[in-house]
Amino acid sequence: MSQTFLKAEDQVIANSLKIRFFPIAVQSAKGTRITSQNGAEYLDLTAGWAVAGIGYGHPRVSSKLKEQYESLSFTSQLSAPEPTIVSLAEKLIKITPGDFPKKVWLGHSGSDANDCIAKLVPLAKNRTRMISFMGSYHGQTMGSLSLSGHPAQSQFIGSGNVIKIPYPNPYRPPFGETVRLTDQVLQYLEQEVFKTICPPEQTAGIIIEGIQSDGGLIVPPEDFLPRLEMLCRRYEISLIFDEVKVGLGRTGKWFSFDHYDVVPDAVVLGKSLGGGLPISAVVARKEILDVGTGIHMFTTSGNPVCSAASLETLQIIEDERLIENARVNGEYFLEQLEKLQEKYEWIGDVRGKGLAIGVELVEDRHTKAPAAEKTAAICYRCFELGLLVFYVGINSNVIEITPPLTISKEEIDLAISILDQSFSDLQEQKINMDLVKQYAGW
Ligand SMILES: Cc1ncc(COP(=O)(O)O)c(C=O)c1O
Repeated sequence: MSQTFLKAEDQVIANSLKIRFFPIAVQSAKGTRITSQNGAEYLDLTAGWAVAGIGYGHPRVSSKLKEQYESLSFTSQLSAPEPTIVSLAEKLIKITPGDFPKKVWLGHSGSDANDCIAKLVPLAKNRTRMISFMGSYHGQTMGSLSLSGHPAQSQFIGSGNVIKIPYPNPYRPPFGETVRLTDQVLQYLEQEVFKTICPPEQTAGIIIEGIQSDGGLIVPPEDFLPRLEMLCRRYEISLIFDEVKVGLGRTGKWFSFDHYDVVPDAVVLGKSLGGGLPISAVVARKEILDVGTGIHMFTTSGNPVCSAASLETLQIIEDERLIENARVNGEYFLEQLEKLQEKYEWIGDVRGKGLAIGVELVEDRHTKAPAAEKTAAICYRCFELGLLVFYVGINSNVIEITPPLTISKEEIDLAISILDQSFSDLQEQKINMDLVKQYAGW
């Protein structure tokens, strides 16, 4: 059944819309589990690229959606607003730090929200340039791809006003040293970039992922984000956090920057915000989002159905204490992965915060040569054994663990045992590499 479906899908669905790691054909999903069209059940450590933060098919969202659709299925909030969007904006302003006037912009995807940043921040600051980080993934529309520094967007030129600097990667330090990593990256910015191609007085904003996710689930050194914030304040540059993947509780706090008491000028949200429905947001200083009327708008932005789903999702995160669960079970997950690391030489690094975890595979721990094929093989084998994981990273060698925030300790134990089995099968050359190669991932 799955094979027939996948063939039919391949006939009509654009390859530009695909990134595949194994041949799954989905039938249904509930909580942390996905059922395939063959009736097999999988524990899902992907949450569909971190969208299913509250898990799949939450009954509270389901009944809210029905209620909302029946009372008001649609109004364009651009021209005839209703209260749901206002309640959602008020809630987002409340959970976002910053003791200054804020407003909210709403869209459909992380990409259109980052386009909001690409367009509005330079306009509001009356400065032309933006700075972002190599390895960052901000989206696939022109503005958001211009901000991105990931190989996934490298075929496109994008807008020429964005300068990209190295991300502080403690495992692969861009300037060779881990102990002086923060100093070296910020010195490069101030001594080289600011003094040559991108003067600070022409720089409107710096956009960063608090954990660089698609770049390889990289956690910066403890002092990096606070010092970046200080630098931004010194030059009056807006600091923007892209929280599309790791925001809304995943790291064990509402936002990744909350771990460092950093207060951004703008926060970008998406993915898990809609409990599975497409909705994104930018929460930012009023003067950024009010810089012009009708200059970044989409007809269905903040529509009542998606807004209602989002409001209910945020309430569920609080009622079910999912942020606490992400923190506690995230720590447990990391500990168990560290034990696996002791067992398998290929696991070069295990890192993360809460339930945003990366497992980086290398050919050997001294050269740190990326083990991309082995990473693909582990993801493939996990799938065969009933566990869904994707990989990320500029070297395609980091297993990304971003499950629904509802995952239990027992499920983590199950995940660890399947990962263990997969590594052992790889060691014993029991994985069919011809099958693995058919799914190139990225
Ligand atoms: C940090 C980050 N920002 C933005 C995006 C783009 O979001 P979307 O695919 O919803 O446009 C992604 C997607 O992976 C992301 O991880």
